[in-house]
Amino acid sequence: TDLSSLDPNIYTSSSNEALSISLAGNGKAVSFHPDFTYPIFGDAEQIFGYKDLVIHLVFDSMSLYPFLNVRYSEKRDDADEVESKLLELLPEETVVKDEALWQDKIDGENFEIPGEILSTYTHKDENYHVYKLSINKCAESLQLHRRMQIFVLFFIEAGSYIDAKDDMWEIYVVYKEDKTFIGFATGYSYWKYPGHEIFDSDAKYLWRKKISQFVILPPYQGQSHGSQLYKTIFEQWFKDDQVAEITVEDPSEAFDDLRDRCDLERLYQRGLLETLPEPVISPEWFQTQQAKEKIEKRQFQRCVEMLLLHALK
Ligand code: ACO
Repeated sequence: TDLSSLDPNIYTSSSNEALSISLAGNGKAVSFHPDFTYPIFGDAEQIFGYKDLVIHLVFDSMSLYPFLNVRYSEKRDDADEVESKLLELLPEETVVKDEALWQDKIDGENFEIPGEILSTYTHKDENYHVYKLSINKCAESLQLHRRMQIFVLFFIEAGSYIDAKDDMWEIYVVYKEDKTFIGFATGYSYWKYPGHEIFDSDAKYLWRKKISQFVILPPYQGQSHGSQLYKTIFEQWFKDDQVAEITVEDPSEAFDDLRDRCDLERLYQRGLLETLPEPVISPEWFQTQQAKEKIEKRQFQRCVEMLLLHALK
């Protein structure tokens, strides 16, 4: 007997490695793996019961029409569920196994990007557009959002689906000019209670806007798309008189980094520095105090910044 067939390890796969996500279209395909699959396959991110398991989850690169094909060389009777777990989270229209049928569906769809263009930018001589989708008013927008939302689980830690019936959600998507899908973000509006004095007066309502989910697909990261999407959303909210504040829900380290860069650039361009009353700290003061306190430069910079902000309270 082949003893290796008794070894449970050969029937155990990492769900992040087994799941292969592809974007296919224009005769090309790019593939990548998810960062997270624990919301689907459990905290250990492992799938038991298959040999040579590959889960192909393919999206049309424009319309994101999904196709699922679970392949393996051997399956045990007590194998974990794979297909049904993914189908619960994918739109009902997802085509399983029948690739020709999937191709027919895509061809029959004549995909047009729904929504309105908010901004256009160029990266390496190619044009890109940021669109705003109205998922409450437009069926095509809602459908497109249903197809993309699984990326929230794959790439945002602790990400979860939004309630698309709630009117307060806004969806922003980035497309290359040839209609290649690049990434998306969701935003939410909160009513900002202004305190009872203003509330009782006739002053108009003020809103607080929040960026909730933000994903640039892995093949397109590091090419400024995230910064452009953030800037577009921020500018759109900023110019609205009824928006009082813009926040971000639970930002990841990478997002914080992007946000810092974009916010600093904007504040600098808007001339915030020129409005400072007078330089509060001189280089001489900094050097003397740093030496005296015997704290390394970067840590001293952080401490001084925190103390200055503390003095504002
Ligand atoms: N050429 C080369 N490098 C560039 C260019 C360019 N033209 N433009 C930007 N870069 C660099 C930036 O300097 C930056 O470098 P750094 O990381 O060393 O500082 C890096 O590329 C990233 O900047 P962008 O390209 O603007 O950002 P990106 O498009 O990669 O988006 C994001 C960043 C959103 C974090 C993306 O990586 C992502 O989706 N990650 C997975 C999901 C995630 O973490 N989402 C945020 C969760 S938080 C939330 O949802 C609220």
